[in-house]
Amino acid sequence: MSVLSGKKVLLGVSAGIAAYKTAHLVRQFIKAGAEVQVVQTPASKEFITPLTLSTLSKNPVHSTFYHEEDENAVWNNHVDLGLWADIMLIAPATANTLAKMTNGVCDNLLLATYLSAKCPVYFAPAMDLDMYQHPSTKTSIQKLTEFGHIFIPATSGELASGLVGEGRLAEPEDIVAFIEKDSLSKLPLKGKKVLITAGPTYEAIDPVRFIGNHSSGKMGFELAKAAANLGAEVILITGPSYQQISHSLVKRIDVISADDMYHACHDHYKTVDVAVCSAAVADYKPAHVADQKIKKKDASLQIELVPTKDILASLGVEKKHQLLVGFALETDNEEENAKGKIERKNLDFIVLNSLRDKGAGFAKDTNKITIIDKDFSIQKFDTKSKPDVAKDILTVIIQKLHV
Ligand code: CTP
Repeated sequence: MSVLSGKKVLLGVSAGIAAYKTAHLVRQFIKAGAEVQVVQTPASKEFITPLTLSTLSKNPVHSTFYHEEDENAVWNNHVDLGLWADIMLIAPATANTLAKMTNGVCDNLLLATYLSAKCPVYFAPAMDLDMYQHPSTKTSIQKLTEFGHIFIPATSGELASGLVGEGRLAEPEDIVAFIEKDSLSKLPLKGKKVLITAGPTYEAIDPVRFIGNHSSGKMGFELAKAAANLGAEVILITGPSYQQISHSLVKRIDVISADDMYHACHDHYKTVDVAVCSAAVADYKPAHVADQKIKKKDASLQIELVPTKDILASLGVEKKHQLLVGFALETDNEEENAKGKIERKNLDFIVLNSLRDKGAGFAKDTNKITIIDKDFSIQKFDTKSKPDVAKDILTVIIQKLHV
Protein backbone atom coordinates (compact mmCIF):
# COMPACT_ATOMS: atom_id res chain seq x y z
CA MET A 1 0.00 0.00 0.00
CA SER A 2 1.29 3.47 -0.86
CA VAL A 3 2.06 5.97 1.86
CA LEU A 4 -0.19 8.31 -0.15
CA SER A 5 -3.24 6.09 0.34
CA GLY A 6 -6.01 8.18 1.91
CA LYS A 7 -3.95 11.36 1.68
CA LYS A 8 -5.50 14.58 0.34
CA VAL A 9 -3.38 15.89 -2.51
CA LEU A 10 -3.92 19.40 -3.87
CA LEU A 11 -2.39 19.78 -7.32
CA GLY A 12 -1.67 23.32 -8.49
CA VAL A 13 -1.27 23.61 -12.25
CA SER A 14 0.32 26.70 -13.80
CA ALA A 15 0.52 27.65 -17.46
CA GLY A 16 3.26 25.77 -19.23
CA ILE A 17 3.10 23.28 -22.06
CA ALA A 18 4.02 20.51 -19.56
CA ALA A 19 0.55 21.02 -18.03
CA TYR A 20 -0.62 18.30 -20.45
CA LYS A 21 1.28 15.81 -18.27
CA THR A 22 -0.90 16.61 -15.24
CA ALA A 23 -3.65 14.34 -16.56
CA HIS A 24 -1.27 11.44 -16.07
CA LEU A 25 -0.08 12.87 -12.75
CA VAL A 26 -3.63 12.92 -11.37
CA ARG A 27 -4.09 9.29 -12.49
CA GLN A 28 -0.90 8.28 -10.66
CA PHE A 29 -2.06 9.89 -7.41
CA ILE A 30 -5.48 8.24 -7.69
CA LYS A 31 -3.79 4.89 -8.34
CA ALA A 32 -1.76 5.39 -5.15
CA GLY A 33 -5.06 5.77 -3.26
CA ALA A 34 -4.91 9.55 -2.77
CA GLU A 35 -7.86 11.93 -2.97
CA VAL A 36 -7.05 14.69 -5.46
CA GLN A 37 -8.30 18.24 -5.99
CA VAL A 38 -6.91 20.47 -8.67
CA VAL A 39 -6.50 24.25 -8.66
CA GLN A 40 -5.27 25.74 -11.90
CA THR A 41 -4.30 29.20 -13.09
CA PRO A 42 -6.72 30.62 -15.68
CA ALA A 43 -3.98 30.63 -18.34
CA SER A 44 -3.20 26.92 -17.77
CA LYS A 45 -6.68 26.03 -19.09
CA GLU A 46 -5.25 26.70 -22.57
CA PHE A 47 -2.92 23.71 -22.08
CA ILE A 48 -5.18 21.28 -20.22
CA THR A 49 -8.91 21.57 -19.76
CA PRO A 50 -10.63 21.59 -16.37
CA LEU A 51 -12.97 18.93 -17.78
CA THR A 52 -10.06 16.52 -18.23
CA LEU A 53 -8.72 17.17 -14.75
CA SER A 54 -12.11 17.08 -13.02
CA THR A 55 -12.99 13.81 -14.77
CA LEU A 56 -9.72 12.19 -13.71
CA SER A 57 -9.66 13.61 -10.16
CA LYS A 58 -13.42 13.00 -9.68
CA ASN A 59 -13.62 16.48 -8.15
CA PRO A 60 -14.50 19.92 -9.53
CA VAL A 61 -11.46 21.92 -10.65
CA HIS A 62 -10.96 25.37 -9.09
CA SER A 63 -9.49 28.26 -11.04
CA THR A 64 -11.27 31.49 -10.10
CA PHE A 65 -12.11 33.23 -6.83
CA TYR A 66 -15.81 32.75 -7.53
CA HIS A 67 -17.99 30.77 -9.93
CA GLU A 68 -18.67 33.38 -12.60
CA GLU A 69 -21.37 31.50 -14.45
CA ASP A 70 -23.65 31.29 -11.41
CA GLU A 71 -26.41 33.85 -11.04
CA ASN A 72 -25.48 34.19 -7.38
CA ALA A 73 -21.72 33.95 -7.56
CA VAL A 74 -20.24 31.49 -5.03
CA TRP A 75 -16.95 32.30 -3.33
CA ASN A 76 -14.23 29.68 -3.85
CA ASN A 77 -12.67 29.53 -0.42
CA HIS A 78 -8.92 29.27 -0.92
CA VAL A 79 -8.32 29.05 2.85
CA ASP A 80 -10.51 25.94 3.14
CA LEU A 81 -8.81 24.45 0.08
CA GLY A 82 -5.34 25.15 1.51
CA LEU A 83 -6.27 23.65 4.88
CA TRP A 84 -7.96 20.62 3.25
CA ALA A 85 -4.67 19.41 1.74
CA ASP A 86 -2.24 16.97 3.39
CA ILE A 87 0.16 17.64 0.52
CA MET A 88 0.27 20.46 -2.04
CA LEU A 89 2.14 19.98 -5.31
CA ILE A 90 2.64 22.74 -7.84
CA ALA A 91 3.38 21.11 -11.19
CA PRO A 92 4.26 22.40 -13.62
CA ALA A 93 5.58 25.41 -11.72
CA THR A 94 6.43 28.06 -14.31
CA ALA A 95 9.09 30.76 -13.82
CA ASN A 96 6.26 33.26 -13.39
CA THR A 97 4.48 31.22 -10.69
CA LEU A 98 7.77 30.49 -8.87
CA ALA A 99 8.61 34.22 -8.78
CA LYS A 100 5.13 35.10 -7.52
CA MET A 101 5.24 32.40 -4.82
CA THR A 102 8.59 33.76 -3.68
CA ASN A 103 7.25 37.28 -3.33
CA GLY A 104 3.82 36.58 -1.90
CA VAL A 105 2.00 37.78 -5.01
CA CYS A 106 -1.57 36.59 -4.88
CA ASP A 107 -3.30 37.47 -8.14
CA ASN A 108 -4.90 34.09 -8.83
CA LEU A 109 -6.61 31.32 -6.87
CA LEU A 110 -3.62 28.97 -7.07
CA LEU A 111 -1.35 31.53 -5.39
CA ALA A 112 -3.94 32.46 -2.74
CA THR A 113 -4.38 28.75 -1.97
CA TYR A 114 -0.62 28.26 -1.79
CA LEU A 115 -0.38 31.11 0.74
CA SER A 116 -3.10 29.44 2.83
CA ALA A 117 -1.64 25.91 2.77
CA LYS A 118 -0.23 24.60 6.05
CA CYS A 119 0.86 21.24 4.64
CA PRO A 120 4.18 20.24 2.99
CA VAL A 121 4.44 22.00 -0.40
CA TYR A 122 6.30 20.38 -3.30
CA PHE A 123 7.08 22.25 -6.52
CA ALA A 124 8.15 20.76 -9.82
CA PRO A 125 9.34 23.45 -12.27
CA ALA A 126 9.06 23.17 -16.04
CA MET A 127 10.20 25.79 -18.53
CA ASP A 128 12.59 26.38 -21.38
CA LEU A 129 16.32 25.88 -20.95
CA ASP A 130 17.34 29.56 -20.74
CA MET A 131 14.53 30.40 -18.34
CA TYR A 132 15.51 27.50 -16.07
CA GLN A 133 19.15 28.63 -16.11
CA HIS A 134 18.29 32.27 -15.42
CA PRO A 135 19.58 33.63 -12.08
CA SER A 136 16.09 34.88 -11.18
CA THR A 137 14.65 31.34 -11.50
CA LYS A 138 17.56 29.93 -9.51
CA THR A 139 16.94 32.56 -6.83
CA SER A 140 13.22 31.66 -6.72
CA ILE A 141 14.00 27.96 -6.30
CA GLN A 142 16.51 28.68 -3.56
CA LYS A 143 14.12 30.99 -1.71
CA LEU A 144 11.28 28.47 -1.90
CA THR A 145 13.49 25.72 -0.47
CA GLU A 146 14.43 28.16 2.31
CA PHE A 147 10.69 28.56 3.00
CA GLY A 148 10.75 24.79 3.68
CA HIS A 149 9.15 23.74 0.38
CA ILE A 150 10.44 20.70 -1.44
CA PHE A 151 11.99 21.06 -4.87
CA ILE A 152 11.43 18.33 -7.47
CA PRO A 153 14.07 19.17 -10.10
CA ALA A 154 13.27 19.42 -13.78
CA THR A 155 14.95 16.81 -15.95
CA SER A 156 17.07 17.03 -19.08
CA GLY A 157 15.88 16.26 -22.58
CA GLU A 158 14.25 17.70 -25.64
CA LEU A 159 12.13 20.74 -24.77
CA ALA A 160 9.00 22.01 -26.49
CA SER A 161 11.06 24.84 -28.05
CA GLY A 162 13.32 22.33 -29.76
CA LEU A 163 16.22 23.15 -27.44
CA VAL A 164 17.81 20.27 -25.59
CA GLY A 165 18.70 20.59 -21.90
CA GLU A 166 17.26 20.97 -18.40
CA GLY A 167 13.71 22.21 -18.01
CA ARG A 168 11.42 19.24 -18.66
CA LEU A 169 8.83 18.51 -16.00
CA ALA A 170 9.88 15.36 -14.13
CA GLU A 171 7.84 12.36 -15.33
CA PRO A 172 4.54 11.89 -13.40
CA GLU A 173 5.62 8.43 -12.10
CA ASP A 174 8.87 9.94 -10.84
CA ILE A 175 7.10 12.88 -9.17
CA VAL A 176 4.75 10.52 -7.31
CA ALA A 177 7.65 8.20 -6.34
CA PHE A 178 9.62 11.24 -5.11
CA ILE A 179 6.73 12.41 -2.91
CA GLU A 180 6.11 8.85 -1.62
CA LYS A 181 9.76 8.45 -0.64
CA ASP A 182 9.95 11.88 0.97
CA SER A 183 6.67 11.37 2.89
CA LEU A 184 7.83 7.96 4.13
CA SER A 185 11.12 9.36 5.42
CA LYS A 186 9.20 11.92 7.49
CA LEU A 187 6.81 9.47 9.16
CA PRO A 188 7.17 9.48 12.96
CA LEU A 189 7.69 5.70 13.26
CA LYS A 190 10.10 5.42 10.30
CA GLY A 191 13.00 3.17 11.32
CA LYS A 192 11.10 1.73 14.31
CA LYS A 193 10.10 -1.91 14.68
CA VAL A 194 6.85 -2.68 16.48
CA LEU A 195 5.60 -6.08 17.69
CA ILE A 196 1.83 -6.41 18.12
CA THR A 197 -0.11 -9.40 19.46
CA ALA A 198 -3.74 -9.79 18.42
CA GLY A 199 -6.76 -12.07 18.55
CA PRO A 200 -7.64 -15.00 20.79
CA THR A 201 -5.65 -18.14 21.47
CA TYR A 202 -7.07 -21.65 21.13
CA GLU A 203 -6.01 -24.23 23.72
CA ALA A 204 -6.55 -27.77 22.45
CA ILE A 205 -8.58 -30.27 24.47
CA ASP A 206 -8.40 -33.02 21.86
CA PRO A 207 -7.87 -33.10 18.05
CA VAL A 208 -11.27 -31.43 17.40
CA ARG A 209 -12.00 -29.23 20.43
CA PHE A 210 -10.42 -26.24 22.09
CA ILE A 211 -10.92 -23.58 24.74
CA GLY A 212 -11.06 -20.15 23.10
CA ASN A 213 -12.60 -16.72 23.58
CA HIS A 214 -14.60 -14.13 21.63
CA SER A 215 -11.70 -11.85 20.66
CA SER A 216 -11.94 -10.91 16.94
CA GLY A 217 -8.45 -9.45 16.63
CA LYS A 218 -9.86 -6.16 15.26
CA MET A 219 -8.07 -3.89 17.74
CA GLY A 220 -4.67 -5.51 17.15
CA PHE A 221 -5.07 -5.45 13.36
CA GLU A 222 -6.05 -1.76 13.44
CA LEU A 223 -2.98 -1.07 15.58
CA ALA A 224 -0.79 -2.91 13.06
CA LYS A 225 -2.28 -0.95 10.14
CA ALA A 226 -1.94 2.40 11.92
CA ALA A 227 1.65 1.70 13.01
CA ALA A 228 2.62 0.71 9.45
CA ASN A 229 0.90 3.83 8.06
CA LEU A 230 3.13 5.83 10.40
CA GLY A 231 6.20 4.15 8.88
CA ALA A 232 6.90 1.36 11.39
CA GLU A 233 8.00 -2.11 10.42
CA VAL A 234 5.36 -4.26 12.11
CA ILE A 235 5.45 -7.87 13.30
CA LEU A 236 1.84 -8.88 13.89
CA ILE A 237 1.56 -12.11 15.88
CA THR A 238 -2.05 -13.21 15.78
CA GLY A 239 -4.13 -16.03 17.15
CA PRO A 240 -6.90 -17.46 14.91
CA SER A 241 -8.70 -14.48 13.35
CA TYR A 242 -10.70 -13.71 10.21
CA GLN A 243 -9.18 -10.22 10.00
CA GLN A 244 -7.20 -9.44 6.84
CA ILE A 245 -4.23 -7.19 6.44
CA SER A 246 -2.16 -6.33 3.41
CA HIS A 247 0.58 -3.78 3.93
CA SER A 248 4.15 -4.01 2.73
CA LEU A 249 5.43 -3.04 6.20
CA VAL A 250 3.41 -5.68 8.10
CA LYS A 251 4.70 -9.21 8.58
CA ARG A 252 1.85 -11.42 9.82
CA ILE A 253 2.69 -14.49 11.90
CA ASP A 254 -0.24 -16.82 12.60
CA VAL A 255 -0.24 -18.85 15.80
CA ILE A 256 -2.82 -20.98 17.57
CA SER A 257 -2.07 -21.40 21.25
CA ALA A 258 -0.67 -19.24 24.07
CA ASP A 259 2.52 -21.33 23.95
CA ASP A 260 2.92 -20.66 20.19
CA MET A 261 2.37 -16.94 20.78
CA TYR A 262 4.88 -16.92 23.64
CA HIS A 263 7.61 -18.44 21.44
CA ALA A 264 6.83 -16.20 18.43
CA CYS A 265 7.00 -13.09 20.65
CA HIS A 266 10.33 -14.09 22.21
CA ASP A 267 11.77 -14.92 18.75
CA HIS A 268 11.35 -11.23 17.78
CA TYR A 269 11.30 -9.24 21.02
CA LYS A 270 15.04 -8.47 21.15
CA THR A 271 14.93 -6.67 17.79
CA VAL A 272 11.88 -4.46 18.38
CA ASP A 273 11.55 -0.93 19.78
CA VAL A 274 7.95 -1.28 20.90
CA ALA A 275 5.73 -4.24 21.88
CA VAL A 276 1.97 -3.88 22.23
CA CYS A 277 0.14 -6.93 23.60
CA SER A 278 -3.50 -6.61 22.65
CA ALA A 279 -4.16 -10.36 22.30
CA ALA A 280 -6.73 -12.02 24.55
CA VAL A 281 -4.45 -14.84 25.63
CA ALA A 282 -6.00 -17.82 27.43
CA ASP A 283 -4.98 -17.85 31.10
CA TYR A 284 -5.44 -21.63 31.35
CA LYS A 285 -4.93 -24.62 29.07
CA PRO A 286 -5.82 -28.30 29.48
CA ALA A 287 -3.11 -30.14 31.44
CA HIS A 288 -3.20 -32.99 28.86
CA VAL A 289 -4.33 -32.90 25.24
CA ALA A 290 -6.12 -36.14 24.35
CA ASP A 291 -4.60 -37.91 21.32
CA GLN A 292 -8.02 -39.09 20.12
CA LYS A 293 -11.40 -37.39 20.09
CA ILE A 294 -12.92 -37.67 23.60
CA LYS A 295 -16.04 -39.83 23.34
CA LYS A 296 -19.37 -38.88 24.88
CA LYS A 297 -20.23 -40.71 28.12
CA ASP A 298 -23.12 -40.41 30.55
CA ALA A 299 -20.87 -39.33 33.43
CA SER A 300 -19.70 -35.75 33.82
CA LEU A 301 -16.33 -34.83 32.33
CA GLN A 302 -13.52 -33.12 34.25
CA ILE A 303 -10.78 -31.32 32.35
CA GLU A 304 -7.81 -30.33 34.46
CA LEU A 305 -6.52 -26.86 33.53
CA VAL A 306 -3.06 -25.47 34.19
CA PRO A 307 -1.95 -21.82 33.80
CA THR A 308 -0.43 -20.69 30.51
CA LYS A 309 2.69 -18.53 30.52
CA ASP A 310 1.93 -14.81 30.86
CA ILE A 311 3.53 -13.52 27.65
CA LEU A 312 3.37 -9.85 28.57
CA ALA A 313 4.85 -10.43 32.03
CA SER A 314 7.69 -12.46 30.50
CA LEU A 315 8.42 -9.59 28.06
CA GLY A 316 8.44 -7.25 31.08
CA VAL A 317 11.16 -9.41 32.67
CA GLU A 318 13.26 -9.39 29.48
CA LYS A 319 12.70 -5.65 28.85
CA LYS A 320 15.79 -3.59 27.97
CA HIS A 321 15.28 -0.71 25.52
CA GLN A 322 11.72 -1.69 24.52
CA LEU A 323 8.62 0.34 25.21
CA LEU A 324 6.13 -2.20 26.54
CA VAL A 325 2.36 -1.67 26.34
CA GLY A 326 -0.33 -3.95 27.74
CA PHE A 327 -4.10 -4.10 27.59
CA ALA A 328 -6.46 -4.76 30.48
CA LEU A 329 -10.06 -5.84 30.09
CA GLU A 330 -11.82 -5.40 33.41
CA THR A 331 -15.35 -5.65 34.75
CA ASP A 332 -14.86 -4.07 38.19
CA ASN A 333 -12.34 -2.09 40.22
CA GLU A 334 -10.90 -1.24 36.79
CA GLU A 335 -8.21 1.36 37.52
CA GLU A 336 -6.80 -0.42 40.56
CA ASN A 337 -6.57 -3.74 38.67
CA ALA A 338 -4.92 -2.05 35.69
CA LYS A 339 -2.35 -0.30 37.92
CA GLY A 340 -1.54 -3.68 39.50
CA LYS A 341 -0.87 -5.08 36.00
CA ILE A 342 1.46 -2.17 35.15
CA GLU A 343 3.60 -3.02 38.17
CA ARG A 344 3.45 -6.81 37.94
CA LYS A 345 4.24 -6.84 34.21
CA ASN A 346 6.76 -3.93 34.17
CA LEU A 347 4.80 -1.89 31.59
CA ASP A 348 5.31 1.64 30.28
CA PHE A 349 1.57 2.10 30.02
CA ILE A 350 -1.62 0.10 29.89
CA VAL A 351 -4.74 0.49 27.75
CA LEU A 352 -7.76 -0.16 29.92
CA ASN A 353 -11.15 -1.27 28.60
CA SER A 354 -14.05 -1.68 30.94
CA LEU A 355 -16.79 -4.10 29.97
CA ARG A 356 -19.12 -1.76 31.86
CA ASP A 357 -18.64 0.82 29.07
CA LYS A 358 -21.20 0.46 26.27
CA GLY A 359 -18.84 1.02 23.33
CA ALA A 360 -16.08 -1.35 24.51
CA GLY A 361 -15.52 -5.08 24.28
CA PHE A 362 -14.90 -8.02 22.00
CA ALA A 363 -15.85 -8.02 18.30
CA LYS A 364 -17.21 -4.45 18.47
CA ASP A 365 -16.30 -1.78 15.90
CA THR A 366 -15.77 0.80 18.63
CA ASN A 367 -13.75 0.96 21.81
CA LYS A 368 -13.58 3.23 24.83
CA ILE A 369 -10.19 3.34 26.42
CA THR A 370 -8.37 4.84 29.37
CA ILE A 371 -4.58 5.01 29.19
CA ILE A 372 -2.77 4.67 32.50
CA ASP A 373 0.92 5.52 32.53
CA LYS A 374 3.52 3.81 34.69
CA ASP A 375 3.52 7.01 36.83
CA PHE A 376 -0.23 6.30 37.23
CA SER A 377 -1.32 9.47 35.38
CA ILE A 378 -4.61 8.85 33.58
CA GLN A 379 -5.90 9.87 30.15
CA LYS A 380 -9.54 9.10 29.34
CA PHE A 381 -10.78 8.93 25.74
CA ASP A 382 -14.30 9.05 24.24
CA THR A 383 -15.89 6.07 22.52
CA LYS A 384 -14.29 5.94 19.06
CA SER A 385 -13.95 3.64 16.07
CA LYS A 386 -11.15 1.08 16.51
CA PRO A 387 -9.00 2.75 13.77
CA ASP A 388 -9.24 6.04 15.70
CA VAL A 389 -8.48 4.30 19.01
CA ALA A 390 -5.39 2.78 17.36
CA LYS A 391 -4.27 6.28 16.30
CA ASP A 392 -4.71 7.58 19.87
CA ILE A 393 -2.61 4.72 21.28
CA LEU A 394 0.12 5.31 18.69
CA THR A 395 0.15 9.04 19.43
CA VAL A 396 1.02 8.20 23.04
CA ILE A 397 3.68 5.71 21.86
CA ILE A 398 5.24 8.35 19.55
CA GLN A 399 5.30 10.92 22.37
CA LYS A 400 7.07 8.42 24.63
CA LEU A 401 9.61 7.43 21.96
CA HIS A 402 10.56 11.05 21.38
CA VAL A 403 11.06 12.25 24.96
N1 CTP B 1 -1.51 -11.45 28.60
C1 CTP B 1 -0.46 -12.18 28.08
N2 CTP B 1 -0.36 -13.52 28.34
C2 CTP B 1 -1.29 -14.14 29.11
C3 CTP B 1 -2.37 -13.40 29.63
C4 CTP B 1 -2.46 -12.05 29.36
O1 CTP B 1 0.38 -11.63 27.39
N3 CTP B 1 -1.17 -15.45 29.34
C5 CTP B 1 -1.55 -10.01 28.33
C6 CTP B 1 -2.71 -9.54 27.47
O2 CTP B 1 -2.35 -9.54 26.10
C7 CTP B 1 -2.93 -8.13 27.99
C8 CTP B 1 -2.51 -8.21 29.45
O3 CTP B 1 -1.71 -9.37 29.56
O4 CTP B 1 -2.08 -7.20 27.37
C9 CTP B 1 -3.61 -8.27 30.45
O5 CTP B 1 -4.49 -9.31 30.12
P1 CTP B 1 -5.77 -9.58 31.04
O6 CTP B 1 -6.47 -10.80 30.54
O7 CTP B 1 -6.58 -8.30 31.20
O8 CTP B 1 -5.09 -9.81 32.44
P2 CTP B 1 -4.50 -11.06 33.14
O9 CTP B 1 -3.08 -10.73 33.44
O10 CTP B 1 -4.78 -12.30 32.38
O11 CTP B 1 -5.28 -11.03 34.51
P3 CTP B 1 -6.85 -11.30 34.82
O12 CTP B 1 -7.31 -12.27 33.78
O13 CTP B 1 -6.80 -11.83 36.18
O14 CTP B 1 -7.51 -9.95 34.75
